[in-house]
Amino acid sequence: MEEVSSRVLVIDPDAASRNYLAVMLRKAGYTVFLAGSGREGLISAWRDSPSAIVFEPALPDIPCVELAKRLRQDRRTANTPCLVLSSQDNPQEMNLLLSAGCNEYLVKSHQALQRLEELLGRLIRGERVIRTTRKGGVLVVFLSAKGGTGTSSLCANIAMCLGKNQPEVHVVVMDMVLPIGSIANIVGYGDRINLITVAMQNPGQTTSLFFKENLPKINEWYFKLLAGSPDPESGNQLAADRITDIVAALQEAYDYVFIDLGRALSRLSLPIIQAADVVALILSTDTSAVTLTQTVWDYLRSQGVDEQHVYAILNRAVGLEGLTKAEAEQLLGLRIRHAMPYMGGNFALANNRHEPVAFKFPLDAATLTLNDIANEIAGLAQQLRQG
Ligand SMILES: Nc1ncnc2c1ncn2[C@@H]1O[C@H](COP(=O)(O)OP(=O)(O)OP(=O)(O)O)[C@@H](O)[C@H]1O
Ligand SMILES: [Mg+2]
Repeated sequence: MEEVSSRVLVIDPDAASRNYLAVMLRKAGYTVFLAGSGREGLISAWRDSPSAIVFEPALPDIPCVELAKRLRQDRRTANTPCLVLSSQDNPQEMNLLLSAGCNEYLVKSHQALQRLEELLGRLIRGERVIRTTRKGGVLVVFLSAKGGTGTSSLCANIAMCLGKNQPEVHVVVMDMVLPIGSIANIVGYGDRINLITVAMQNPGQTTSLFFKENLPKINEWYFKLLAGSPDPESGNQLAADRITDIVAALQEAYDYVFIDLGRALSRLSLPIIQAADVVALILSTDTSAVTLTQTVWDYLRSQGVDEQHVYAILNRAVGLEGLTKAEAEQLLGLRIRHAMPYMGGNFALANNRHEPVAFKFPLDAATLTLNDIANEIAGLAQQLRQG
């Protein structure tokens, strides 16, 4: 007897692709139903009561969005997990399908198949799954391979420039660096609300409305803040399984979500990096930082992070010596999109006064660069979303 919980319906007009999936899913222990058109798919979906449906949106007979809507509108499949496995990366179609209630949109590739298998298991077990597809507010993560490269300073100051230059957009900064955050310190926030206290709340409470209403607005910084862990003791108490929900709620509530991940490349941060619209990779000019960054970049690439989404910044945080941009680029094997000038003690001075660089040193070349980077990151994110 097959268990009811292991039936998967695959709808794909391409026989080779359909059979490939069938073999893969049978190997994983599922009973598989196959359909080559939207109509066949609907018949099987309503007759065979699959526990999940995987479909290719390029259907010969019905528009994919209609298929998704009909599945959702019918009582028998209203709650059946639906995964789109598309041969083409079509963001507009993706948004429509996700809005129509599909759980995830993946573009066919070796990695997508692995992800598909993992997602099926989780969805069938009834686990909540965060979408890795890009929807809601733009997600920008800041990451480095080595400490002290200016990741937190750049995250806060670039977010500030974006918020200032685009008054109509709502920006939030979240500090995820463990065991202790530093953005609160940079912007001068000392109150109670932070990632740790928020993560202790019941998941039902931390909705997008909660974040809209409760996060502090930081004067002069043009963004709202979800501060990080105030001390290592609290940092160790972080309810890690709450992170994905919190990020999703922030994306629902704000147009831009900037996250300082610091050096944290971990099981916790990887899904967020994979889901990010833009991965700001901060490196300094010493050879060891560049080499470490190369290792991190190789790893990210192996985990499906696409070079297009990576915005590498060479930050001259320690002085003028070290590699040139061209040398660093060559060593890294990645385009460096901007080089941040060395500010001497001025950056630390601005940080210590809790003032944005653009405020304290409006005429400095660094202010110009920060503004450029903010505009470019926003432009890149928009461009990538439009496909
Ligand atoms: N371009 C720059 N010119 C001068 N000083 C800089 C520059 N960028 C960063 N700094 C200084 O370097 C110091 C470290 O910066 P920051 O704390 O942002 O780095 P980080 O990468 O977040 O470090 P950590 O690994 O501790 O999280 C700060 O004092 C900051 O003011
Ligand atoms: Mg930091």
